Amino acid sequence: MEHSCFAQAIKEFNVPAAALSQVAACVRYDIEQGLIDGFSSLKMLKSYIGLPAGNESGEYLALDFGGTNLRAALVQLKGNGNFNILKKVAKPLKFSGLYDFTGPDSTSSDLFDFIATVIDEAIDGDRKKKYYLGHTFSFPSSQTNIYNAKLITWTKEFATKGVVGETVNDLLKQALARQGVVNVEPVAVINDTVAVLLAAAYQSTDTYIGSIYATGHNTCYFETDTSKIEKPMIINLEIGGFNKLSINKYDKKLDSVSEHPYEQRLEKMVSGRYLGELFAFCVQDIFKLPAKPSFTSVDLSHILEDTDPGLSSTIKLFHTHTGITLTKDDAVALQELVTAIMNRSARLTAATYCGILWHIFPKAIPSHKIFIDGSLFEKVPSAARNMQQALSEVLGENAAKISLELENGGSILGAAVAAAMSK
Ligand code: BGC
Repeated sequence: MEHSCFAQAIKEFNVPAAALSQVAACVRYDIEQGLIDGFSSLKMLKSYIGLPAGNESGEYLALDFGGTNLRAALVQLKGNGNFNILKKVAKPLKFSGLYDFTGPDSTSSDLFDFIATVIDEAIDGDRKKKYYLGHTFSFPSSQTNIYNAKLITWTKEFATKGVVGETVNDLLKQALARQGVVNVEPVAVINDTVAVLLAAAYQSTDTYIGSIYATGHNTCYFETDTSKIEKPMIINLEIGGFNKLSINKYDKKLDSVSEHPYEQRLEKMVSGRYLGELFAFCVQDIFKLPAKPSFTSVDLSHILEDTDPGLSSTIKLFHTHTGITLTKDDAVALQELVTAIMNRSARLTAATYCGILWHIFPKAIPSHKIFIDGSLFEKVPSAARNMQQALSEVLGENAAKISLELENGGSILGAAVAAAMSK
């Protein structure tokens, strides 16, 4: 293989420090425009919930919908940031050959009936006790209070019919009623980023930013400026829609075949749902393949983690997906390409955090924790390192004051905290 082909593709994913600073400045600008209803690529969705006190307690049901798996759990909040998960059920939203509740062939009742059965399993079919449910719904939704959330548009290539424009908790309530589970009452609906921030703030202070870096990508923050919003509350930025970015030819190809071209510009460059596909477009181009092979972000992680000097796993994985046997040199170049794609993702994400920090702390950045949940942050060892490096390039020595913390399972705990706060 001609190595200049690899080199050219790798170059396409390079984001220099100056570009990161520009992204950060544009994010800050879009936040401030969004707050005054000016023209902004950020949806800036109000959550109608603030930060928890940390003393919330009681037993709540938590539902986490929006990634690869659907989860329902019974959570006992014990106050002082303590909690127990009493029961947890997880089911994939699609199962090859059996069902797919995320595709256009499924309807809202197919999907919500499935959700209701998973909730029923989490309460062991109990029809007596009253359960209040917090619902983490990980899609852009417009809210008028903590209960009412209408889906604005699907993202992450979800396409289930009959949900856009609907109040998701009403759909859930109707499905629970069809199932006879009338003792479960949905009381709060929140975005998963909001859940991460609530979960983090339930356990520690000094945090205003929650983020998801996984199948999808998004960030929220706590806004206190009551000249712009009616009361202090968490704002879901829907940062995945940020679009002041320069895109390469692979981004363009991916966008053109996506469910919603021109939308979710940043998300399509950084999130797990798309990284494997971006890589696949590069491979198709480099190897002049008639069709795009299929790779996922999990494949990319495996390639990154291949420390064998002969890169034997990478060569095997690539052969399985394309039928092509790589030379050792090609495998090295391929690993560099994966590194470049992953690095761009982490660097752009960190640049957006800087823009948010500049907005929240216009005078001086204090010591602050950003809580992040998601497989890309948790399982790709280079992600946190690359993010920290990008923070230094944009914030200089202030970057040392920012720590990036994993908030594992925040979607479940946050949903329970939201339910407790709404009672
Ligand atoms: C959705 C966000 C969500 C994020 C992470 C995005 O596709 O638009 O609402 O927070 O994925 O799950």
